[in-house]
Formats: sequence, structure tokens, C-alpha cells
Amino acid sequence: MEINIAVIPGDGIGPEITEATEQILKRVCEIYGHVLNITHVKACSSSIEETGEPLPKESLKKCLQADAVLLGNTGLEKYKNEPLTKRPEYALLKLRKKLGVTTNLRPVRLYPALMELSPLNKNALSGGLDYLFVRDIAGGVLCSEQVKGKGVHGPEAYEYEYYNQKIVEETAGFAFELAKARKGKVVSLDKANVLGSSRLWRKTVTEIGKEYPEVELTHEYIDSAALKLIRMPWYYDVILTSNLFGDIISDEGTGLTGTAGLFGSAELAASGKGLYTPNQLHYPDESVIGQQKVSPVGMIMALALMLRCTFHLEQEAAAIEKAVEKVLEQKFITEDMYYKGAKKVKTQEFGFNVACIMKM
Ligand code: IPM
Ligand code: MN
Repeated sequence: MEINIAVIPGDGIGPEITEATEQILKRVCEIYGHVLNITHVKACSSSIEETGEPLPKESLKKCLQADAVLLGNTGLEKYKNEPLTKRPEYALLKLRKKLGVTTNLRPVRLYPALMELSPLNKNALSGGLDYLFVRDIAGGVLCSEQVKGKGVHGPEAYEYEYYNQKIVEETAGFAFELAKARKGKVVSLDKANVLGSSRLWRKTVTEIGKEYPEVELTHEYIDSAALKLIRMPWYYDVILTSNLFGDIISDEGTGLTGTAGLFGSAELAASGKGLYTPNQLHYPDESVIGQQKVSPVGMIMALALMLRCTFHLEQEAAAIEKAVEKVLEQKFITEDMYYKGAKKVKTQEFGFNVACIMKM
């Protein structure tokens, strides 16, 4: 098969984790006989420095020509006072719109080898922790226009939470379909006790749920679910959310594992095209940039998701996931996730170990 992808290393630790991941992709293509065409695309901070734009036309064009886009990392402190359109994050938001991705999948689970890194105690974890966050990325506050002005109390600014039936139906459809292959359970989160957009959300999800009698649907309020996720981490399986709620609670979910850098994120369009990133898209510690200290696993998992969701290469995706698990079981780990008794390796070396474990 031909694998045509665009790769944006992005900001901060992005280039390191991208390099470590690309060697695995090359290895997979060697083993399974795929033709690989990678186009490296300048976007985020590197292109802001050169052109002033986070995603210049030429870069966008290359992404649109590819079947999938892999993005390493986005956001740097130094741009925090710039307007959104001049910040690296804007490249991601613009790509989402132009690629037409609507639904964000974020699988999160506990790796037995790394259980001790979780901030939860053994008791809480004894029932397991294995989630699939299904988050809308086509609507909601994060897709709304920013309005600024001057009111009676001085400068004012606001966004609004917009949803329509079609947007909710699309994301809900993903959640129910995927739940069938998991535990057959969807919990949809909203704030329907207050927000009109959440009421529409709940009503629409309920309607779609009727098409899936084999899947159990429950609704919870986002605030109490944020609490329950910590108290009863084993309770949830597929978690369906709006854009902003999902952004927040998926970070909480990864935080509960203590290993936020281990998970991938898939942003999917109905066409099959996708944008794939680590779940932790913005790495919070800039002091480690360029030092090969950070785990590339989130990006490697994004690669596996890409092969699975856009190219339908399940065997290849599963092989990557298994290889990562083996390397973790052998106690190889980067400095950011170091624990007593582990063998510390550089970012690139971790990727190399994963590539090596994959057999011809
Ligand atoms: C995410 C990120 C993005 C979002 C930002 C970087 C625009 O936080 O996907 O988790 O909020 O959608
Ligand atoms: Mn986020």
C-alpha cells in the first residue's frame, strides 16, 4: 500500500519525538512492504519565525494533499501574548477546519509495567482503567469566533458554545460504533442542568443511542464526572464529550495514569483523512527541549492510530502497540517517566528499541 503523509514536527519537543517515531514507521513499511512518502511540512513556531504565519498556504496545501497528517507538538511560552492567529496553536485549529476533522479519539489505559507511576492507589486501580474519550472538535467554544470589544465595565471578550444536531450526531455515531467493539457502554458528559447547548447535546445523543440498542448509554454532568473519574476510575469505558469538556477531561484521564506522554490522539474526518498527534499536544516543561529526555510513546501511538484509522492497517498498528508494550515491560524508559529499577534511555533510543523489536 502507498502511505502518503505529511509530518509536522511542530514546537518544543516535537522534532525529537517525531524523529524517534519516523524510524518506526520506516521499519513498519519495510516489514510489511508498504511504499512510504513523507512530506515534511513547516508549521507552528518554525514557520512563524520564517514567515510570520503558523500555517502558510504552501504548508496547508501539502497537508491537504496527504492522506494523513502527523503533528508532534504545539505551543510555546514565548508566544503567549500574541494574538491567536500568530500563535503555533492556530496551525492546529486551522488544520482541523481545513481537513474537515470532526471527532477526536483519545484512548487511555494503564500499562501494567508503569502502574506505580499513577497517582491513584492500588485499591482504586484494582478494577482497571481503560478509556476511550470521543470528543467533538467541530463545534463548541473552541471553534467559535472570538469577540472582543469595550463594554460598560471596560474591555470585554467572549466566545460562545455552538452546537447543532449534525455535529453532535457525527461524534455520537463514532462513540456508539466504537463502543460495540469495547464494553458496549457509553457515558456522555454535558452540563444539561444549565446550558442550552448541552440540552441539545443530550437530546441528540439519546436519539442516536436508540439506533444502538446493544450499547448502554448514560448521561452525567461534567463536574460530577470529573470527580467520579478519580474516585471510580474503573467505572468508565467510552466517554463522549463536547469540545471543551473533552479537552479538559481527557487530560484528567491521562493524568490518572501518571504517564500522560504515553497516548496518541486521532482527529478524524468522515472522508477517512486524519490528523494524528500525541494526546498531550502541548508539553508543559520547556526546560527539557532538545535534550532527548521525553518519551516519544504518545507520538508512536499516534502513528499506530494513523495506520489503523486512515490506512486500515490493523495488523501494523497492533504490532507497534505490542512492541511499545514489550519495551516498557523490559523497563526501558525515558527520563520524564523514570522510576526506580528502570533503564533510562534517550528519546531516539526508545524509538530504536521499538523498531528493533518488530520482527520481519
Ligand atoms: C488539545 C489541545 C488543543 C485544543 C489546543 C492546542 C488548540 O489542547 O487538542 O488537547 O484545545 O483543542
Ligand atoms: Mn488539550
